[in-house]
Amino acid sequence: MDKFVIKGGKRLEGEISVSGSKNAALPLIVASILSDDISVIHNVAKLADIDSMNQILEVLGAKVQLSGTDLKIEPSNCDKFEAPYDLVRKMRASVYALGALLGRLGRARVSFPGGCVIGTRPIDLHLIGLEKLGAKIEIEHGYIVATGNDLRGADIDLMGPHGSSVGATANVMMAAVRAEGKTIIRNASCELQIVELARFLNGMGANIEGIGTPVLIINGVKKLHGVEYTVIPDQIEAAAYMIAAAITRGSILIKNGIAAHLEAVIDKLRGIGVEVEDKNGHIMVSAKDPLKPIDIRTAPYPGFPTDVQSPIMALLATVDGISVITETIYLERFMHVSELNRMGANIKVEGNFAVVKGVPRLSGAPVMASELRGGAALVLAGLAAENQTVVSRVYHIDRGYEHMEQKLTGVGANIERLSD
Ligand code: EPZ
Repeated sequence: MDKFVIKGGKRLEGEISVSGSKNAALPLIVASILSDDISVIHNVAKLADIDSMNQILEVLGAKVQLSGTDLKIEPSNCDKFEAPYDLVRKMRASVYALGALLGRLGRARVSFPGGCVIGTRPIDLHLIGLEKLGAKIEIEHGYIVATGNDLRGADIDLMGPHGSSVGATANVMMAAVRAEGKTIIRNASCELQIVELARFLNGMGANIEGIGTPVLIINGVKKLHGVEYTVIPDQIEAAAYMIAAAITRGSILIKNGIAAHLEAVIDKLRGIGVEVEDKNGHIMVSAKDPLKPIDIRTAPYPGFPTDVQSPIMALLATVDGISVITETIYLERFMHVSELNRMGANIKVEGNFAVVKGVPRLSGAPVMASELRGGAALVLAGLAAENQTVVSRVYHIDRGYEHMEQKLTGVGANIERLSD
């Protein structure tokens, strides 16, 4: 298992390029099996989660080839309908195979995604949505077995206890594009990856209206064709490097960062006193003391993303005064707090609130990543901390941040990957 050894305290300066969005690419990869033609997806990041999705496609019978950042998918022989536990357990996004397989083959057998350290993550809305389209769903020995050769359009509401569901919206969309008649998805997710998926499907010949709004109208079509598509830059990765500039009181040009995708994050960073400039397709971020505390509440897009909650907490841990962070999507997503506190932060969790009292300096310590975004937060804290921080279980971070240590080294960080 690899670890990062970080000698912190250096002001970071320079340029970092943002890679293609992980969460936008994953549903596109699996959606490509809705046609028999070749699809090509550009700007695909080299990430563990992308590898896992490619492996699932191969198990289903598709041919997948990644050269550089271009992913070519040949789905014509995709005739298997089982996504096995060994692959699904690595990544929850594998549950997207359910909607895509139903849309392609009229049947799917997908392992139930297991528990997750960011709290319970049910899939009831996915199943309710697919059932409304006419699929028959059974749970057998840990697998979701879905059948439905004659899916029909339906009126489906995807509002959950914590807002709409990204995954359920994607699954229902993929199953509905080739269903007979009209599907209306109410309280559809407006997240960027859903907008991307809808555009990708329309590029394949689907008929989806209302893209980017909470009401999606899908008129089923008989056949889809291949598509060539470029994935958007990863806004969550961009946010991490914006915070890297802020936490080291440095100055970084985030190349390919799209400010319009990050309005809520930029708004909060500016509120903290960080300078953020939209440079037309790039974002310039610089910070110097004193910075101010701020309150943050996560919310579905275009609100403040839950995936940036832990990184910004690392920054606020270094800002004098008291900040309160409220997590509304995954109420227990605070695994990083005890590790940040081991680095000298002063953070108390009460229910779904974290009360962050800024300290003058974090101190390096051995810490452990236990999930992707929390792991990134520990690296960011390590960049600002005195002396040495060792972040273990880096495989969590590798799921979603391409070459993180190389990108940070490029702006002057002292970070090294060591293998046990
Ligand atoms: C997506 O997860 C992202 N994953 C997550 O990013 C992200 O944190 C999340 O959306 C919210 O933005 C991918 O895109 C692959 P949801 P998803 O279904 O689709 C509840 C990362 O670090 N819910 O929108 O699983 C659920 O418990 C990952 O890259 C139900 O109640 O999220 C949560 O409270 C982590 N029933 C809320 O809805 C359901 O059937 C939102 O979940 C489904 C969800």
